[in-house]
Amino acid sequence: MHGNVGVELGRRVAAAVQAALDLPVSEQDALIRPSKRDGVDYQSNIAMGLARTLGRDPRDVAADIVAHLDAADIVEPPQVSGTGFVNLVLTDDWLAARAGSLLDDERLGAPPTDSPRRIAIDYSSPNVAKEMHVGHLRSSVLGDAISRLLRFAGHEVVPHNHIGDWGTPFGMLIEHMVDEGRTGSDDDASISDLNGFYQEARKKFDAELEFANRARRRVVLLQGGHQETLALWRRLVEASARHFEEVYALLGIQLTPADVYGESFYNPFLADVVKQLSAKRLVKVSGGAICAFPEGFTNRDGDPQAVIVRKRGGGYGYATTDLATARYWIEERGADDLLYVVGSPQAQHFALVFAVLREAGWLTGDHHAQHIGFGTILGQDGRTIRTRAGGSVKLVDLLVEAVDHAARIAERTALPEAERTAVARAVGIGAVKYADLSGDRRNDYVFDWNRMLAMTGNTAVYLQYANCRIRSVLHRAGAEPAAGTPVLLTDPRERDLLLRILRFPAACAAATRDYAPHKLCTHLYETASAFSAFYASCPILGADSPQVRDSRLVLATLTSRVLTLGLSLLGIEAPERM
Ligand code: ARG
Repeated sequence: MHGNVGVELGRRVAAAVQAALDLPVSEQDALIRPSKRDGVDYQSNIAMGLARTLGRDPRDVAADIVAHLDAADIVEPPQVSGTGFVNLVLTDDWLAARAGSLLDDERLGAPPTDSPRRIAIDYSSPNVAKEMHVGHLRSSVLGDAISRLLRFAGHEVVPHNHIGDWGTPFGMLIEHMVDEGRTGSDDDASISDLNGFYQEARKKFDAELEFANRARRRVVLLQGGHQETLALWRRLVEASARHFEEVYALLGIQLTPADVYGESFYNPFLADVVKQLSAKRLVKVSGGAICAFPEGFTNRDGDPQAVIVRKRGGGYGYATTDLATARYWIEERGADDLLYVVGSPQAQHFALVFAVLREAGWLTGDHHAQHIGFGTILGQDGRTIRTRAGGSVKLVDLLVEAVDHAARIAERTALPEAERTAVARAVGIGAVKYADLSGDRRNDYVFDWNRMLAMTGNTAVYLQYANCRIRSVLHRAGAEPAAGTPVLLTDPRERDLLLRILRFPAACAAATRDYAPHKLCTHLYETASAFSAFYASCPILGADSPQVRDSRLVLATLTSRVLTLGLSLLGIEAPERM
């Protein structure tokens, strides 16, 4: 029995097609969908497609499939409806038995993958000497949730943080450090205002020719491995790294210093990448630069699109580094999949890089490379979010503000001080993360405190609060129900809730397959809503009989487990009380 009900039914229908029509179809082809029709749980529309190929009446084909369906252990005798749908209704006995067995199952029925892959995932990836801004929020939050989902599915996930720690800006930053005499170890604090430091350097670079020239010479020294320059550069990188770690700790992002593979890490491989590409005759000199022209890409003028792999002066850029990065993760680290959680504006960049990698034979048919793009965070005015002064919003400020807002919710609880602080953190950070995760990642969304902290609707705090309500019922009940406690379905709302709970594996699978955490969010919201409807009309502790009470405690326990596990896969905490 497959833990995902839809998959199991798909297999059964596929076997029936084989038996009835002697046609091989996969469980995916059996097209099992949760049904929106009243009184129908799942539906298969495979008969329609088959009827077309066979030149038969779809209702006849559906009847044939039904006659050969071996699923009486799971579903009621199936009905054919409309133009040939096969309608499936799970039996109450099967539902009840399934609920009982889930109590023992930490994974709540979600089976681990039978084809685990090694997945290198690039996310967060902020830039040194610039403070992280909200643009990096999405990459961090989405990348972290996607990593958790993939790991839960049984894959080996290797995160790497591709921080921007190399290139021309470092010339001016280092030169500015020297000018200001901020080169001692006790000066680290003074460059902790990274944005300010960057802006000062930039201003000088634009205004003073002499400084700009020194900055350029400094870049050459840095790239040439000049010891003193490298030491100064390292100081800058470390100050930034500390700032990033602070943000990750606050956000509950699982990246560690060991996951940092900055652009500088790939520097030693760049020359060889270009050498290999030219040995494979994939590059041409164009305007003094060495460029690849991957097949099928044209620029605005309709000419072949160039990917610059070596600039005119001999330097390397962003694209070369990404070619080296991919080659490293495939060849040195044995990655099967390469995932990049980076804003949608970089879609073209990744498409070009992947194309060059394929032409070079570094990326083969067995590998899967994907840019997991996402939209922008907008302010209330519908434009990219800005501070009142017009600057870009700093991530830390936003997170601190989130916790402040949530503190007002926590204040209304009767919890002890320390627990209230923890709840404010869980609710505030959870709100920001969930706002980021609950919509289709490809869309922009408006950052709105009121909406993300609303106690009703598809928000983190609604789910967290629903879970706490259940925890409190379970607490008052004394003990969690023992595995094997019989489940009785006495009310349609009990059945609705249970059906939802049993769809958790399917929701997880869809969210993982499409790198779409919002599919899990939607499911959690539907589960919490089904619980609300159930709780409003089915008393738990005040049930008519001890059997019904225990049965309802099972449903409540499973709901709480779905919410807790689901939130944890999104990287969001579920407090016990609030
Ligand atoms: N540092 C880049 C930025 O802030 C993102 C890097 C994404 N990863 C990559 N392998 N290109 O835009």
